[in-house]
This record gives sequence, C-alpha cells and structure tokens, in this order.
Amino acid sequence: MSKIILTGDRPTGRLHIGHYVGSLRRRVELQESGGFDEIYIMIADAQALTDNFDNPGKVRENIMQVALDYLAAGIDPEKSNILIQSQIPELTELTFYYANLVTVARLQRNPTVKSEIQMRGFEGSIPVGFFTYPISQAADITAFKATTVPVGEDQEPMLEQTREIVRSFNRIYGDTLVEPEIMLPENEASLRLPGTDGHAKMSKSLGNCIYLSDDEKSVQKKIMSMFTDPGHLRIEDPGKVEGNTVFTYLDAFSKPEHFTEFLPDYENLDELKDHYRRGGLGDVKIKKFLNKVMQDTLAPIRERRKEYEQNLDYVYEVLKKGTEKAEQKAASTLDDVKRSMRINYFEDDQDLINAYKNRAEEPEGGRR
Ligand code: TRP
Repeated sequence: MSKIILTGDRPTGRLHIGHYVGSLRRRVELQESGGFDEIYIMIADAQALTDNFDNPGKVRENIMQVALDYLAAGIDPEKSNILIQSQIPELTELTFYYANLVTVARLQRNPTVKSEIQMRGFEGSIPVGFFTYPISQAADITAFKATTVPVGEDQEPMLEQTREIVRSFNRIYGDTLVEPEIMLPENEASLRLPGTDGHAKMSKSLGNCIYLSDDEKSVQKKIMSMFTDPGHLRIEDPGKVEGNTVFTYLDAFSKPEHFTEFLPDYENLDELKDHYRRGGLGDVKIKKFLNKVMQDTLAPIRERRKEYEQNLDYVYEVLKKGTEKAEQKAASTLDDVKRSMRINYFEDDQDLINAYKNRAEEPEGGRR
C-alpha cells in the first residue's frame, strides 16, 4: 500500500515556532526521508472560515503568509503538494456523505471542539459549519487516502473521528477508505511548546509567540524577557528546570553541535540542567545560549522566506499546481466513494432502470 501524508493548518496568522516543532519540522524530515509516495499539505481556509466567517479577509491574506512559512521552513514543492482546501469541491461532497455516519452526540464529545466552542464564545449558539468541521477534516484526510497525519496532539480527536467514519463507511458500503494513523512529535517539549510567558499554549491572542518570520532583534528581545523559574532570584540559588520555559525550548531546539559551537563548557543539555539545579548558573547565560540556538535555527528559514517574498508569482504557481494535483486525487477518491455507495448513476445507463425493475416489493402498510 502507498504511504501518503496529509496534514495542514488553518490560515489565520503567521506560523510560530510552536507550529514548527509541533509539526512543520517533522514534515520536512519526512519529506526528505523519501519514505512516502505522496505528500499533501493543506492550507485549510474553508475550515478557518468556520470560525472566521465574518472575517474572510483575514483568511484570504494569510493564505500567502502560510505558504511562505511552509516554503521557508523547507517544504519542497517538487516533493510535496501545497494545496488550498476551498478550491477542491470534492472535499465538500465527501463531507456531505460522511455526515450521515456521525451523530450530534458524537460531535459534542469532541474535546477539541468543546474547548474551541468555549474559547470562541459559541456556547448556546454554535454555528453548524463550525460544529461539523471534524467531519470535513475526515474528508480532508480520506480524500487523499492518507496513511499518515503528522499533527499536534490537539488533533487527536479529529483523527479518532476520521477513523470511526472510515470504519463505518467501509462496513456499510464496502472497503473503500483508508484508516489513517496520527504521527505526534517525538518529545514532550515539542508536543506542547509553551508561550514565552510560560503559559501552556503559544497563541497569537496571548501575545506570547515567536514567529518563524520574526527578525533577529525581536527574537532576541522575546527570549531575553522570557519566563524562567520565579524562585531563582540570585545566580547562586538552585533553580528549577521543570516548567522553566527556557529549558523547555532548549529541549525542543538544542542539538549537540550547539554546545560545541556556542557553549563548549558543557557537554550537553543534561550537564547544563544539572548546573542550573545546583545553583551558580544565571538566567542571562541560559537565555543568551537559547538565543544563539534559536537564531541558528531560524536564520536559514528567515533567509529563504526573504527570497520567496521577492518571488510571489512563483509561490502563487506552487499553490495553483499543488491544488490541481490534489484535486485529481480527491476526484478519484470521490469516484470510489460514489461507486461504493452506488450513487454513480450515469456511469452505467442501465443502473437506474435495473434498480427500478429489481426493486424490493413494498411490504403492506409501507416500509417503515
Ligand atoms: N485542524 C487543523 C488545525 O487546526 C487544520 C487541518 C484541517 C488539518 N484539515 C486537516 C490538519 C487535515 C490535519 C489534517 O491546525
């Protein structure tokens, strides 16, 4: 069986380093591994509209923004298709048929949707489009027969919902759809990168993000004012590493060669942590090191982004071509789905006629 990746993001803002360690970095590694037959990366603008329906301009302007972040991070259009969700009508059609396989109660149990409803102030009057986006996400994933979906853990309920839809569909209509696997980030720090203020979630509304497109100065400024251990007042004091945002970022970003290059007094991160725990290691020193690590990671991304920004016509072509290829795939899956459901009436000119001729006799008093 082919190995196929599908993943994506809502275009509601620039991507930040939480997106990077949570999924983007992995996508690039998987792309370069050569272990996958097809890769689709979706700019989920239709999904973004489910909670930004009153602000389509925001979604529209962030499509290019996210595409630039993808390319800057190393997504290679020769190896991965970048596509725009709303331009693939087959996805909407699949959603409509999958909706028959999902109950309202099941949607209400989705923890990610639950917390989003709260965050958006939708309690009491939930827009139907928003409420049903997990079904549409199942269409996103299955349309490409994806086997592997690299995402953050907040997407786990969507994958579960997708697998349930696949199983129901295949049971009722015959084996058609592929059950996808979620692929989570490898380490704890990358799974849930906190904001620079130590808040559990990095998010635009909290103003605690470092963006992939931030310039060198603002990255440095954000790092130097980062949250550490509030009990670590003097350098000699023993410090806490757990829950210390600087160390969480180092867990997510530092590599052995960063020590050789920027902090040769320490062999590795464990030694640095030990020293901090013992006392005698100041916050400024660890922040300066983190800044070097982050600049080393972000500089090439920033550079590539500048190049693509000079060439937006090229980025536009990448989106157009990626979307075209993606639509072919989605159309072929939709054909399979309609054939399995036997709603492909005009493929065989006798089909409807035979269905009528061979119809089951209505029992007395109607069928139900
Ligand atoms: N729900 C994802 C997010 O909020 C975006 C998304 C839409 C997605 N469709 C997808 C992710 C399909 C993975 C697979 O970031």
